[in-house]
Amino acid sequence: MALTPLISLNRCQPGRGTFVEIAGREIAVFVLGQPPTPHVIDNACPHANGNLSAGACTAEVVACPWHDWRFDLRTGACVDSPKVRVRRYKAEIRDGEVWVDLDSAGEP
Ligand code: FES
Repeated sequence: MALTPLISLNRCQPGRGTFVEIAGREIAVFVLGQPPTPHVIDNACPHANGNLSAGACTAEVVACPWHDWRFDLRTGACVDSPKVRVRRYKAEIRDGEVWVDLDSAGEP
């Protein structure tokens, strides 16, 4: 597991997604709850590439702003069709930053 610094916590808005580009990938970062827990997924919705970082977030579910497909940020699974998944990455908070393992794609 090789963690890479992704974004400072103070750039993440509570309860909302933040778009980040890193290593040629477009990523959506959500920092939710207390203590803050990071959720890092691909930004492109698997339906038609909607911008998931701009989706409304309720509890740990983000709704795609284009056609409202909803994804559980803890697993990447689509709430209404669990075989559909958005790629999810392991992440943690260290020293005020979200760190991500870009090699962990697909792991719940
Ligand atoms: S592009 Fe996300 S639901 Fe259609």
